[in-house]
Parts: sequence; structure tokens; C-alpha cells
Amino acid sequence: MRSNAVSPADELGDESRQFALLLDSVTDYAIYMLDPRGYIRTWNRGGSRIKGYDAADVIGTHFSRFYTARDVEQGLPLRNLETARQDGRFEAEAWRARKDGSRFRASVVIDPIFKDDQLLGYAKVTRDITERYKAERRLQEAQQALMQAQKMEAIGKLTLGLAHDFNNLLTVVVNSLDLIDARTRDEGIGRYVLTAMRAAERGVLLTRQLLTFGSGQTLALETTDLNELLRENIELLQRAAGDGIEVRLALADEPLVADIDRAQFEAAVLNLVSNSRDAILPSPGIIAINLSCRQTRDPASSHAGTRPFLTVEVVDDGPGIPAEHHQRVFEPFFTTKEVGQGSGLGLSQVFGFASQSGGFVHLRSEPGQGTAVTIHLPAREH
Ligand SMILES: Nc1ncnc2c1ncn2[C@@H]1O[C@H](COP(=O)(O)OP(=O)(O)O)[C@@H](O)[C@H]1O
Ligand SMILES: [Mg+2]
Repeated sequence: MRSNAVSPADELGDESRQFALLLDSVTDYAIYMLDPRGYIRTWNRGGSRIKGYDAADVIGTHFSRFYTARDVEQGLPLRNLETARQDGRFEAEAWRARKDGSRFRASVVIDPIFKDDQLLGYAKVTRDITERYKAERRLQEAQQALMQAQKMEAIGKLTLGLAHDFNNLLTVVVNSLDLIDARTRDEGIGRYVLTAMRAAERGVLLTRQLLTFGSGQTLALETTDLNELLRENIELLQRAAGDGIEVRLALADEPLVADIDRAQFEAAVLNLVSNSRDAILPSPGIIAINLSCRQTRDPASSHAGTRPFLTVEVVDDGPGIPAEHHQRVFEPFFTTKEVGQGSGLGLSQVFGFASQSGGFVHLRSEPGQGTAVTIHLPAREH
């Protein structure tokens, strides 16, 4: 008896039609064929979804249109075909362009198609891995920030212990000098005592900075509008910068109210301005101090959400900081200045102040492009 039932294979048609249907139903991959010179011969729905072009847009055109202008300029599209032909496969991860001009991270495979040693064309498979790429990058950045934070915490603890011991020693030295001073009438000895006293006082100052870095100073919090405080300080900052350097203050439009230790804040801004001055000199230059409120997240905190931070950005047009120093400049005693010129405690004070205030510091700098250091302080909750 003959059956009238149609097998699914019949409905799908012959093998090549089945294959075309299969390819077209794939939407997560752009799968298409190129002729030996790189002109597009077939297209699937994945291609439309990922790259934004319909079959009619692209069939018959050259596949180099998916490359960024720079890659085309460097002859990359044809080079990749050549690699595929010679090595039997080309594989890469790179940025590619969509129809609307936006870029996406692509995982690309090109396979040559031979028949009896004759190159018929290429099979090209492209996958959009932008999300995965971004997630990996975010994870990497978070891990780096965490490692950096742990390192700074370890250095902070070490510094704190050292600073406390030092403080105790200096107290003994200063007290003894006081006693010597009270008992001697010898002017010569008096002069030595004075010199020793000055050195000890400078030591006390240094240990205080170390205590700040190690978050060992008690902050004297006061509700403060940063706009007002900086306006009051601008003359002092201009004087610190010197004659050839202009300090430009750009206040925020809104009040920037935070609970901060005013003295520590002033010291931090002064440290940043001094660094900018040192970097700019001997040429003339500009130091800009910009205030604003930004919605952002603390890179070292595990909270994923953003919060409002009051930001004080100090920007200079100096020579910038080389990338290999970026992680180290906040460490206590890291300095590139000559002995006597720098203590290496300026940025560590800035770092310590910001962290102890619940904020963080961000550094942006490239050699030849100047430097921007931004203190982020949590905005006062209403
Ligand atoms: N604005 C800047 N431009 C260029 N380099 C800078 C700047 N600020 C800081 N630096 C670099 O960071 C180092 C550490 O700064 P800091 O902690 O203030 O210590 P110090 O100023 O005593 O060297 C400096 O020696 C310098 O190399
Ligand atoms: Mg400094």
C-alpha cells in the first residue's frame, strides 16, 4: 500500500535547501560566504541581527565594509583572507562596525573553501561577544582595584604602626630638648638645641601626615560647602602656585555640602596644587580646580550601585605621569623629586583623607597630556 504521508525531509526540499534554511535560522551567528576576492555571496539572519544589514544591502559588496576605517586602511581584510587561505583558518577577536556606525566586539572565524585544490571562496562566521567582553573587562578592573585597595591597606597598617612608634620617640626627643634648653645658659648649645628642635618639629609634621595616610588621625568633621571653602582658599592656592601659573577655580552651580575635616581637605587641595606646580615649572601653565557633583561608583567598593559624590578635580597641563607610576604615586614616600624637594607624602595624604572620609581618589594622566587628580567625597545625606 502506498502511503500519502510526506516525510519531513520532503517538505524541507533537497539537501542544499535544508542547509540554507538551517543557516538562516541561526540568529546568534553571522554566517555567510565570500567569493575568493572577498565579495559577499550569501547572508543569514544572524548577519542582519548582529551587523544591522539586510541581505539586499550586502550581497555583492565587499566584506571589508564591516571593518573599521583604520583596519581597512592597514589592509587587514585581504590580509585575513590570505591568512585563512594559507593556514587553512583565520581566527580573531576584534572590533567591527555595524550598519549604524556603532562598534561591536566580534569573534571571527574565516575558513577557506577548496574544491580539488581550487579556492571557491570563504566561509565566514562572526559572533557578537560585546557583552561577554565588557563583563570580562569589568571583572578585571574590579579585581585590579581590589588588589590595589588591599595593597594600600597593608601599607597603611604598616605606616600607622611606624608613625605611632615614631611619634613616641619624637615626644621623648622634644621633651628632652625642652629640658636641655631650660637648663643651659650657653648660647652655642642653645643654637644646637634650636636646630634639633626644628628638625624634631618637622619630624612631628611628617608623622602626622603618615597617620593621615594610615587613617590614624581622628577627623574633625564639620558640615561644609566645598564651593565656599575653596573660594576662601583661592588666594592661598594662587600664592602656592606662584607667579607664572594661573589657578582657575570653577565652582559648581549647586551647593556642595559634605561633612569633612576642613583642615585635611585644605591640605589635600594644597598638596594637589603643589604637585601641579612642581610638574609645570619652570614653564608657565594653568592649574584648573573644578568642582561638581557626580553620580558614580567607588571602584574599590563591592557595592555595584552609583552614588552622588562631590568631586574636586585638580587639572594641570604639565608633563603628566607615566603609566607605570600610576599605581605607586599614592604610596607614602614614593617621589620622583630630588632629595629635599619631595617627601612623597602629598598624594598619600590626599589618598588617606579621601578614603577615611568615605570617598576615593581618581587619577587620569598621560605623558604629554597633563594630569587630573579627582577627590571624590560622599555627598551629605539629607
Ligand atoms: N600633577 C602631577 N604631574 C606630574 N607628576 C605628578 C603630579 N602629581 C604627582 N606626581 C608624581 O607623583 C609623585 C608623588 O607625589 P607626592 O605624593 O605629592 O610626593 P612629592 O610631591 O613629595 O614627590 C611625585 O614625585 C610625581 O612624580
Ligand atoms: Mg607632592
